[in-house]
Amino acid sequence: MRILVTGRDGQVARCLADLSGGSHEIVALGRPDLDLTDPATIAAAVATVRPDIVVNPAAYTAVDKAESEPDAAFAVNAAGAESVALAAAEAGVPIVHISTDYVFAGDKDGAYVETDATGPTGVYGASKLEGETRVLAANPKAVVLRTAWVYSPYGNNFLKTMLRVARDRDVLRVVADQHGTPTYAPDIAAGILAVCERALADPEGGWPGVYHMVAEGETTWAGFAEEIFAASRERGGPGAGVEPITTADYPTPARRPKNSRLDTARFSASFDHRLPSWQSGIARCLEALDG
Ligand SMILES: NC(=O)c1ccc[n+]([C@@H]2O[C@H](COP(=O)([O-])OP(=O)(O)OC[C@H]3O[C@@H](n4cnc5c(N)ncnc54)[C@H](OP(=O)(O)O)[C@@H]3O)[C@@H](O)[C@H]2O)c1
Repeated sequence: MRILVTGRDGQVARCLADLSGGSHEIVALGRPDLDLTDPATIAAAVATVRPDIVVNPAAYTAVDKAESEPDAAFAVNAAGAESVALAAAEAGVPIVHISTDYVFAGDKDGAYVETDATGPTGVYGASKLEGETRVLAANPKAVVLRTAWVYSPYGNNFLKTMLRVARDRDVLRVVADQHGTPTYAPDIAAGILAVCERALADPEGGWPGVYHMVAEGETTWAGFAEEIFAASRERGGPGAGVEPITTADYPTPARRPKNSRLDTARFSASFDHRLPSWQSGIARCLEALDG
């Protein structure tokens, strides 16, 4: 199976590339070779790689900056995603598109299911939601995977920020009233691969559609930080105390959903695949960072 992945240096793209080998050839291309805002580069990449399936994790992911750069966010996350889905459709291959918990308003009690009403609270979420709609319309063989709170040994993410800041401070103030599930990018990559295998093994199956794919369990950003420091200290690494604060204590340009919990029952039933717990992801990420 040959998979074309958009965005070479993104967390999920790099974790997918790490799975290349054996019967899976995974080709990750980023700017300038493949630019989501330039459909000609997408068509050229599809023509050159001749993939069996395309995965689109590339995105404008600067959640706060998107509030002042809506055109840039929509160009990548809505129009760009549509261009990737169209190029895949023209080549007659499926697309797996990665989306986000931020398509929801966050005011539900309990975990969101795929059929719940969306209601993004910011530009980033709105641009990702429009991307979902456009991808599903552009390619009849499209899977949209909504994930959340992504971290990995690569790039910038909450786990790496916590470890860095803990070297200089004894106590960190962390938001404790937003609920969700930290999800380790290598586990996302493995989940994407399960979807790709199913799509190719069962081309006419009923798998196209929207799915929620996050790690098992749930916590808050403060709970995430506490677990990072506990696991880090166990390994002799940095740690700090966590002072829980509210969202109101830590204003940001983009409003975040208070409840980002995603119900994964549909994903696990459809693809016979479950992601490991969020705590186990932290342990494996620290191990990978220690090299
Ligand atoms: N990070 C999270 O917490 C989170 C949560 C929920 C969902 N998601 C979704 O999960 C997916 C993967 O996230 P991630 O954390 O792996 O993202 P990431 O590390 O921020 O990487 C995003 C990648 O997209 C690339 N990109 C941006 N604009 C592009 C363009 N015009 N053409 C081609 N590539 C472009 C970037 O390339 P450059 O290196 O050139 O900038 C970067 O490599 C995204 O779709 C995101 O919306 C993420």
